[in-house]
Amino acid sequence: MKKILVTGGLGFIGSHTVVELQTDRFEVIIIDNLSNSSIEVLDKITSITNIRPTFENIDLKNHDAVKDFFIKHQNIEGVIHFAASKAVGESVQIPLHYYHNNISSLIYLLEEMDTKEVTNFIFSSSCTVYGQADIMPITESAPFRAAESPYGNTKQVGEEIIADTTKASDLNAIALRYFNPIGAHKSSKIGELPIGVPQNLIPFITQTAAGIREQLSIFGGDYPTIDGTAIRDYIHVVDLAKAHTVAMKRLLRKNNNTAFEVFNIGTGKGSTVLEVIKAFEKVSNQKLNYKIVDRREGDIIEAFADTSYANNELNWKTELSLENALNDAWNWQKSLKK
Ligand code: WQD
Repeated sequence: MKKILVTGGLGFIGSHTVVELQTDRFEVIIIDNLSNSSIEVLDKITSITNIRPTFENIDLKNHDAVKDFFIKHQNIEGVIHFAASKAVGESVQIPLHYYHNNISSLIYLLEEMDTKEVTNFIFSSSCTVYGQADIMPITESAPFRAAESPYGNTKQVGEEIIADTTKASDLNAIALRYFNPIGAHKSSKIGELPIGVPQNLIPFITQTAAGIREQLSIFGGDYPTIDGTAIRDYIHVVDLAKAHTVAMKRLLRKNNNTAFEVFNIGTGKGSTVLEVIKAFEKVSNQKLNYKIVDRREGDIIEAFADTSYANNELNWKTELSLENALNDAWNWQKSLKK
């Protein structure tokens, strides 16, 4: 079996990707420093696939530890790199942590991959690189806008570091620009585990429905949209995970057209916050307690993906709906209460 390293493999998107890689008969090694994930996820992944991934508790900011890892683990065919800090608001408060954690780690990883001639790399990027794009749906050729946060800037700079490295080495890389990942595995064994008060919409909705939060605040009801609330492209995390296995196979088979490729990974459909709430009330069969408050600083009005390039080039498309994702997120939330 081909051996794949997944950094951040105990996290939300990482764990779902590990499950899909194992299902696709890859051998998976996980690096995670447990700063935003829990070791229990390793057992949960194993209980889904009956295959226990190799796990190393390593902080990628520790260059020597990264070097030692690649000496210990030979014949790695590819790397999928999720490990990064990802809270937009927090990044504004502690920018140096974000630049150190997200950029130094990437550089050390790429350096040791080069030393060991590991040449296939998938990078976890984000639609946040576009800022508020002028044209909807958003294509991969939409320009970078000035990043709204240090977090967003680490994704822009990360892509540029990778692009430059592919020009100067044998590295082949794909950046997947995620839209809004939501939902959970249908087994309810893995899902989103926000630490503290959720920043993202769906976990706040499910925690409100579960009685953990009193009321959801909708940030802004005066946007120029059909119902005044902001629009996003909410993609089921399992569909997103599958995009990673497809992209890695593309590189392993050397089917990539250029050494550095980027793909928008979304559903291609935009939903307003109120539409998401209505869909959630339908799948959960309960009313949600919410109020509309002022806009959140730094939020954009609208973002949804033009997925035609990923659909055609990767032969990948989403198979799960917003309702599927909300239902899986709600089942996951209810499983946490038990
Ligand atoms: C979605 C919509 C909010 C919470 C961010 C990052 C992106 C990715 C996903 C990491 C917005 C509204 C939210 C709430 C609300 N993160 N909202 N009340 O901001 O689109 O994207 O998270 O990779 O890179 O930028 O996601 O879930 O925070 O917000 O009304 O309590 O829900 O205003 O319109 P966002 P989000």
